[in-house]
Amino acid sequence: MSPETDNRRLVAEQLRIWSRCGLTHLPRPRPAPRTEESPPVPVADNPPPADETPAVPASPSAPWADLNACREDALACTRCALAETRQKVVFGDGDEAAELMFVGEAPGAEEDRRGQPFVGRAGKLLDKMIDAMGLARERVYIANVLKCRPPGNRDPLPDEVTACRPFLDYQIDVIRPKIICCLGRHAAMRMLDTDSSLKNLRGRFHDHNERTRIAVTYHPAYCLRNPAAKRDVWEDLQLIMAELGLQPRD
Ligand code: URA
Repeated sequence: MSPETDNRRLVAEQLRIWSRCGLTHLPRPRPAPRTEESPPVPVADNPPPADETPAVPASPSAPWADLNACREDALACTRCALAETRQKVVFGDGDEAAELMFVGEAPGAEEDRRGQPFVGRAGKLLDKMIDAMGLARERVYIANVLKCRPPGNRDPLPDEVTACRPFLDYQIDVIRPKIICCLGRHAAMRMLDTDSSLKNLRGRFHDHNERTRIAVTYHPAYCLRNPAAKRDVWEDLQLIMAELGLQPRD
């Protein structure tokens, strides 16, 4: 028998004896007293090796370990009937440490085809807005209320919004943006739980939690149909820029 197996047998035997004596717990070993030769070591309760630190879910009730796991789940999602008509799930993308997050309504035809948010005509305008704010698209995070395209671009249905809710909630929990900019009525309704008009909601911040505030503005697709709305959007974006200390691109 190897010395290691021998030791294991002795330890097992000792534990059996203690157990028969009614001992149910062993005291946690104390850290060895520090000496000149042993530098201080940070003490944690059984810390795992650094490279094995488990990813902590951003919100304790969420079933995912990290954003990647959440994305994988969304990509296979069949929680609502949109799973039957979509081509691709559009989870959202961008900088996971972004201070600014845009939330749109739902993927359109081009997004559905490519699996990326805001890559159609409205997306081109959003890119210009982001650029005008002195930012690059890669520095913000972009997601939608719904991850799948409603057929014919119809409005999201309440049960679809409910089914998709955990994904967006988790994205926000992980990214912890300073500002969420809701693009259009459906994003505003979802984030602020209100059916007040955009006119009433825009032009100011709404509290979300201690870190994040919500701004509301018109959807880029609406601006394409009503170019006069771009002036209001620029006002809203300037509020956000002031909050984030951004200078407009010249
Ligand atoms: N409109 C949206 O609301 N989201 C997209 O991703 C594209 C268009």
